Amino acid sequence: MNLLKGKKILFGVTGGIAAYKSCELVRMLVKQGAEVNVIMTENATKFVQPLTFETLSKHRVWTDTFKRYEEGEINHIQAGREADAVVIAPATANVIAKIVHGIADDLLTSTLLSTRKHVVVAPAMDWAMFKNEVTQENLAKLEKMERYTIIPPEEGELASGESGRGRLATLEHILDEVIYAASTSNDLEGENVLITAGPTFEDLDPVRYIGNRSSGKMGFALAREARARGARVVLVAGPNRLVAPHGVEVVDVRSNAEMLDAVMKYAPDMHIIIKAAAVADYRPARYYMQKIEKGPGPLALNLERTADILFELGRKKTASQFLVGFAAETQQVLQKATNKLKQKNLDLIVVNDLSQDGAGFDEDTNIVHIIDRKGHTDSLPIMDKADVAHEIFCVIQKERANGKKRSGSRSASSAASASGNSRSGSKRRGSRGSRKKTPTAAAAPQTAAVAPSAAPAVTPAAVNPPSGEGNSGEQQN
Ligand code: CTP
Repeated sequence: MNLLKGKKILFGVTGGIAAYKSCELVRMLVKQGAEVNVIMTENATKFVQPLTFETLSKHRVWTDTFKRYEEGEINHIQAGREADAVVIAPATANVIAKIVHGIADDLLTSTLLSTRKHVVVAPAMDWAMFKNEVTQENLAKLEKMERYTIIPPEEGELASGESGRGRLATLEHILDEVIYAASTSNDLEGENVLITAGPTFEDLDPVRYIGNRSSGKMGFALAREARARGARVVLVAGPNRLVAPHGVEVVDVRSNAEMLDAVMKYAPDMHIIIKAAAVADYRPARYYMQKIEKGPGPLALNLERTADILFELGRKKTASQFLVGFAAETQQVLQKATNKLKQKNLDLIVVNDLSQDGAGFDEDTNIVHIIDRKGHTDSLPIMDKADVAHEIFCVIQKERANGKKRSGSRSASSAASASGNSRSGSKRRGSRGSRKKTPTAAAAPQTAAVAPSAAPAVTPAAVNPPSGEGNSGEQQN
């Protein structure tokens, strides 16, 4: 994963128990290719040894304002200036107060005063300290500062044993914000991007559904990439166990019908639509209100067709929209994908060759071919889904720049604003999206799949009604 390849991140650690989580965040940043330089306050060193951060970042950790540097060694002032972004995690109430009032009485706060870079602040503290009116006032002031973005703490159990708001934000959210802050390619600034991800589940009875093994990873990676490029991103996601990308508006759906509704609601304002979801083509023809009980013989299910959402999008596509589909094929891969591109009126299709190891569902990697309307094919080697997402957007932007599609971003952006869909809370790139929480694994309903694929597992026209059929509670889907 290389979302921060070649980027320099200055990482401030202040004195809170959540400092132990910062070690993991440093590791995540390094894993994304970043060069991380850590500054710790004196209090932070009481919680975690500088050696831990030194080992993880592979760089000297700065703690002392008056330390003499060896010749040729980069110092903290330089590091602040050369950084692509700065992050403070955890940020105590104390350091937030100092930033807001311009106090520079240690190495971290002096460096913050001397840098002009974007600073991501992740507060973590006791709930009462967070709730305190002075802290709240300081946070409100910080929020108004152009170069600062706050990732609010979360609710939960705190080090004191009490519960409340004060826990360091989910590390993936902080990481997303740092990627966004450090990003220099904002070629999607002012544009609206709609992405679908994950499977759809078609319910059969209260505990069973027809689903498929899509994890949603490809769609989530695309959403992250679009957001890093400055777009307003709406992610319509089927059931998944992933951490939602920060700054992206997530709309959780379950079935094909719910995905269709959500996609059609947002589509008119969108400049780019990417349908990465593995949508069910069939659903049970009826929904049983009571759990289906087993009978002595075999059970056949009657399935009916669902909507082809991508086809509908292609039918309604406007001149300013760029529509991308996905295909998962096991044979005649390029030919079948090209047919889908034409049938569904797409501008681009991304096809996974499922016959190859490392491609497709529930993997961290993918092997794809990207085919345009003229039949030109980019065949990518096996790569991480984040890198695939990057390549896909490079091709999309190249295609759009070639004049095959004019984005019409100005008029469409104003249309989006007029319809109340423009982002508020303008910061660095003028925008930050609202988001709904994606259900966590624990919150996800405990259901059992009756078929492993989106394609029908059973296709008989006739139905052998299971015992118990005819319950007054049954309803048609
Ligand atoms: N798709 C969709 N609605 C459906 C089925 C598929 O929007 N009911 C979209 C997928 O999100 C994907 C593309 O269509 O972008 C192709 O999906 P795929 O399952 O490969 O193809 P199908 O058109 O369903 O054809 P088949 O399953 O017969 O190969």
